[in-house]
Amino acid sequence: VFANVVRAPEDPILGVTVAYNKDPSPVKLNLGVGAYRTEEGKPLVLNVVRKAEQLLVNDRSRVKEYLPIVGLADFNKLSAKLLLGADSPAIQGNLVTTVQCLSGTGSLRVGAEFLARNYHQRTIYIPNPTWGNHTKIFTLAGLNVKSYRYYDPVTRGLNIQGLLEDLGSAPSGAIVLLHACAHNPTGVDPTIQQWEQIRRLIRSKSLLPFFDSAYQGFASGSLDGDAQSVRMFVGDGGECFIAQSYAKNMGLYGERVGALSIVCRTADVASRVESQLKLVIRPMYSNPPIHGASIVATVLKDRNLFHEWTLELKAMADRIITMRQQLFDALRARGTPGDWSHIIKQIGMFTFTGLNSKQVTFMTKEYHIYMTSDGRISMAGLSSRTVPHLADAIHAAVTT
Ligand code: LMR
Repeated sequence: VFANVVRAPEDPILGVTVAYNKDPSPVKLNLGVGAYRTEEGKPLVLNVVRKAEQLLVNDRSRVKEYLPIVGLADFNKLSAKLLLGADSPAIQGNLVTTVQCLSGTGSLRVGAEFLARNYHQRTIYIPNPTWGNHTKIFTLAGLNVKSYRYYDPVTRGLNIQGLLEDLGSAPSGAIVLLHACAHNPTGVDPTIQQWEQIRRLIRSKSLLPFFDSAYQGFASGSLDGDAQSVRMFVGDGGECFIAQSYAKNMGLYGERVGALSIVCRTADVASRVESQLKLVIRPMYSNPPIHGASIVATVLKDRNLFHEWTLELKAMADRIITMRQQLFDALRARGTPGDWSHIIKQIGMFTFTGLNSKQVTFMTKEYHIYMTSDGRISMAGLSSRTVPHLADAIHAAVTT
């Protein structure tokens, strides 16, 4: 009965790893998926995560009961505080409902499905370009996806004029997806002044902001600094959705830990919204897994572990920044044609190189370097040892 099932293409991001794994070359390099690697090219489990896991294992009072539908209460409270700030009036006024979800993707999906069921506007505007999964998540949740101009390939910066024009002509009430920091894939963020322009426009048109916060602490190394955009929107008292992920900043990729926070105008509305979120979650996966959220809660509530986490986070962010400089220097040393200053200007995990899909294919075939076809490279996958190989490949790609 399934004889007519057609083979689906691999995922544009995760499929890069599938292709990489099949390549027997000893010099192969995976710069596709955004996953942190050490200087030795190995995945990293943070020390604080190991310590928290040890504490959890040693605690014999811990059981494996189901969590509530909305997840671990401590985790939810601490996650909202991390995002909105310890002294957030919205939290103090019980205006925020936070539910534990399956990392960023699951948080976006639950939020989108809630909107499709409970909100009068079904249209969501996403930046062009954006993370490849966004369109699919929102479409399958029942929203209509439209895009707004974001990246200017000529300046390799933000097209603020285009962005303001497109959001300015969006229908009143439309949902707007925003990357809280370290825009994926471009690494281009609005300045604080530009965020303020965007905020004013969104509020004046009663658009609904939906933040994807996947890199808090990873962009600048500062947890508060990377939450500034979100806090500006929450600070003005309007509604706001935020999907939060601990994949990158705590290295908990496979644990699937994240949260959806919805900021409402009154405490009563927030509690009714939460009751509806439960109706979305229960038939989807019943309730979330306990282990990853317990790790996060353990780290966030212990002063020493929290401090240690911030240091480890900063070290990861700094290593990525060092890789940017090294790649930039290596291209300059080779006299590679073009202006490569965007490599050091862009922030977060990725460099949007400007290489086209033909050049990407060339680099994969000739140099065994794997990356997404839009020319995005994960800087976190590079090391001092592999920078020269990448620089050689880019040089060859743009000169042949
Ligand atoms: C990425 O963009 O590489 C990451 O967010 C991982 C993913 O799930 O796509």
